[in-house]
Amino acid sequence: ILESAKSDISNAQDSRTLNDLRVKYLGKSGIVTGLMKKLKDIPAEEKPIFGKVVNELKEEIESLLEEQKNRLAEIEREIIYKKLWVDHTMPGAKRDVGHLHIISRVQMELEDIFISMGFSVVEGPEVEQPWFNFDALNTPEWHPARDSHDSFYINEEYMLRTHTSPVQIRTMLSRKPPLAIVAPGRVYRRDYDATHLPMFTQMEGLYVDHDVTVKHLKYFLEEFARRLLGENTKVRLRPSFFPFTEPSFEVDIYFNNRWFEILGAGMVHPNVFKNVGYDPEQWRGLAFGLGVERIAMVKYGVRDIRDLVRNDIRFLENW
Ligand code: PHE
Repeated sequence: ILESAKSDISNAQDSRTLNDLRVKYLGKSGIVTGLMKKLKDIPAEEKPIFGKVVNELKEEIESLLEEQKNRLAEIEREIIYKKLWVDHTMPGAKRDVGHLHIISRVQMELEDIFISMGFSVVEGPEVEQPWFNFDALNTPEWHPARDSHDSFYINEEYMLRTHTSPVQIRTMLSRKPPLAIVAPGRVYRRDYDATHLPMFTQMEGLYVDHDVTVKHLKYFLEEFARRLLGENTKVRLRPSFFPFTEPSFEVDIYFNNRWFEILGAGMVHPNVFKNVGYDPEQWRGLAFGLGVERIAMVKYGVRDIRDLVRNDIRFLENW
């Protein structure tokens, strides 16, 4: 009996089997219990010796069960420790997390700079009426400036805005001067090459007050360029033409030993003030419209503007 109990118990691999074995040997109708019951049939002189042997057997099996139980518990604990074990010297697992697109980042950076100079951020619709996009901005039907914009028309009444300047009009119609706003957003033109996208991002700036002059325009542009690209950045104004500003300027920024053309600017044309009901005798305004992609290209050294929208992860990861 002891031999078979030994091999039974050492083969038990889990606590359930072990429990079954306890019942088999020591339970109410178990083998050892059965021997105990036989005691009354044993001749009186053999009773002590028989009882002693059966008791020893019972104790033996009990301690075998106990040992195996401890062994199983030990194995279980080892398995759990192995599962929980962490090698603290291993390098951490690097996760590929996404990040904002470079255009969004530059846009937010520009917003922060202008907010810190007292401008507030406003937005206008991308689907616009020609009156806001052109007429109110002193660009009538016959005006040659309309051709340079190569607009997308939706129908007679609606078009995709070709610049963020209509937000100047919407802002002045809904607010009283003085005001200082920037208006970031997408604009659309029929154009596509290494330096032009059919959809791109502009940020409009407009500051209207009683005594605004070209000096203020130059100050804001220089201050903005320095905050964006560093103390040594230079700004150059070249005479230009926009129907909604007079005088008008093309603005270049000197960075990494090169001049970059990144924005148009000027002093708000009196006709624009008249169109929104501001008195041109009382109010002066400076306005600028900068190309967010152009700035991203200058700041991050992007050569082909189309790389910004190709969505090639190998390109996007660099920024
Ligand atoms: N709207 C002009 C453009 O898209 C830029 C501009 C804005 C020029 C404001 C002057 C004043 O080219």
